[in-house]
Amino acid sequence: MKANGQSTRSIWLNADGWSVGTIDQTALPHRFVTLTLTTLDDAVHAIKSMQVRGAPLIGATAAYGMCLALRADASDDSLERARAALLSTRPTAINLRWALDEMAAAVRNQPREARVAAAYRRAAEICDQDVAINQAIGRNGLKLIEAIAARRNGQPVNVLTHCNAGWLATVDWGTATAPIYMAHDQGIAIHVWVDETRPRNQGAALTAWELGQHGVKHTVIADNTGGHLMQHGMVDMAIVGTDRVTAQGDVCNKIGTYLKALAAKDNNVPFYVALPSPTIDFSVSDGLTEIPIEQRGAEEQSTMTGRTADGRIETVRVVPDGSAVANYGFDVTPARLVTGLITERGVLEPSRQGLARAFPERAGARG
Ligand code: MRU
Repeated sequence: MKANGQSTRSIWLNADGWSVGTIDQTALPHRFVTLTLTTLDDAVHAIKSMQVRGAPLIGATAAYGMCLALRADASDDSLERARAALLSTRPTAINLRWALDEMAAAVRNQPREARVAAAYRRAAEICDQDVAINQAIGRNGLKLIEAIAARRNGQPVNVLTHCNAGWLATVDWGTATAPIYMAHDQGIAIHVWVDETRPRNQGAALTAWELGQHGVKHTVIADNTGGHLMQHGMVDMAIVGTDRVTAQGDVCNKIGTYLKALAAKDNNVPFYVALPSPTIDFSVSDGLTEIPIEQRGAEEQSTMTGRTADGRIETVRVVPDGSAVANYGFDVTPARLVTGLITERGVLEPSRQGLARAFPERAGARG
């Protein structure tokens, strides 16, 4: 998609053929800063500090982190150390483990001298595959938007989204945003309600930025506003992303997603989840008990960062000194609250049967 008018992906191989470029998402929306990753430690730091974030991009960055580690040392030991270091960065998004398993499978049986090239090949494929998957998600989700647009007589279709499941969170296009970008590009009138997504404000900072860069009309709202809008008929559909979907269709996503799904159910607003198949974890069933929920640092909750009137980036405390804070990064929306799962293989019923029918090769292998 476009950043400052230039087509760009969120991760790329630099002209030197080995170092890795990414966008520092902690600087957005106020500054567009790119990073160069040259070591395993760089990749670990980028994921841990959320310079890169979003389930598919975490996976892609980890894949290139493995390349950088093997470039320094192609031994079995190095491979296992890199895998462990990258796996420990973020616990909830399953794309991380998926990408590391893919990378290990691609290099493990190769002689040492062939490992680096094999790793770079597989990492590039993972990235290209993510783009193709998101385009397919876009085409499948577009049909849902078109159906609503047909009833709206030229009035904009109002879509609510939470967190950032846009191109910044993937390699390109995004998951939740792919149908939105395609609808916009086709001339369908569309408007997006963007949940600010406290505490890190991925909606206000990232989703709003990328929609604005592409010219999509949007309005940033406080996280608690969605229910009110739905009660007043101001939301036609919700589309969110996800960090992990279980075999029975439970959806783990950024904290606050569950409350939006409850409000959507109460107001008959269709609630869709867009996901690439690497986000499905067929090894777990009950999302509530089986998915580890990341608890993040207190400072994310007790402070806010923004730009002052004279252009300085400042962080201010918004909680009294001494108050305890809790910062749960994700929640689980049970499958019964989800209208459909928008995948590269179609819009699926959120159930064991729906997922297994669409991905029999993965459901059978339970991994
Ligand atoms: O903590 P984050 O910012 O990595 O969380 C991101 C989300 O919850 C996204 O919605 C999810 O990863 C889907 S990204 C296509």
